[in-house]
Amino acid sequence: MTTPHISAPSDAFAATCLLPGDPLRAKFIAETFLEDVTCVTSVRNMLGFTGHYKGQPISVMGTGMGMPSCVLYSTELMESFGVKRLVRVGSCGAIHESLKLNDVIVAHSASTDSNMNRRQFAGMDYSSAASPRLLQKLLNYVDTQALPVAVGSVFSTDHFYGSAPEQLKTLQQMGILAVEMESAGLYAAAARHRAQALTVLTVSDNLIHQTQLTPQEREAGFSTMIEITLNALVG
Ligand code: ADE
Repeated sequence: MTTPHISAPSDAFAATCLLPGDPLRAKFIAETFLEDVTCVTSVRNMLGFTGHYKGQPISVMGTGMGMPSCVLYSTELMESFGVKRLVRVGSCGAIHESLKLNDVIVAHSASTDSNMNRRQFAGMDYSSAASPRLLQKLLNYVDTQALPVAVGSVFSTDHFYGSAPEQLKTLQQMGILAVEMESAGLYAAAARHRAQALTVLTVSDNLIHQTQLTPQEREAGFSTMIEITLNALVG
């Protein structure tokens, strides 16, 4: 099966696929956490892998950054490769005072400044929400393990460098936890395909205090988030 951006046998992906933005993160996840790993696609170096975690089949594929790229890969995975559960694992910039660098967030919903969802929702504002079942699975796991994971709303922006102070204030007034660039599009694409989607994020920077993790700190935090996510999914 070949789609414009993925070249792999039609059964190459597991029903559950982790989606980091960075394809090298996909490689890192596959090599660090999965067993019996095969690289199943590498078109444009957007690497995708399938393996097993605790005996269950799991895939992991990079999506690139931003909603157009994330939605494009997610759509092809759902339409042509039978992926049914899409779990974005990424980083975010915190704007809520309760959050520290390296904290893990799960996004129950995602607001956005993008026009992507309006284009496929007759110009109206779609309410981008996580799959309740996937969210429940993750929360059950973190509750039983007493893990400090924050749950709330995120903001998916098209502008990594475009967060003016007054915009951040507006987001804070609505209780939004953090800014990232993909979830609103991913959640809408999953809804359209009757698939399940969830986003789990590590706080890599704080937009209020202008602080950020070092690359080494990023890797450690990222691994914690992946372990939580994989254990919740197979539990
Ligand atoms: N992802 C990580 N940090 C971010 C930020 N500051 N803005 C948007 N997306 C991000």
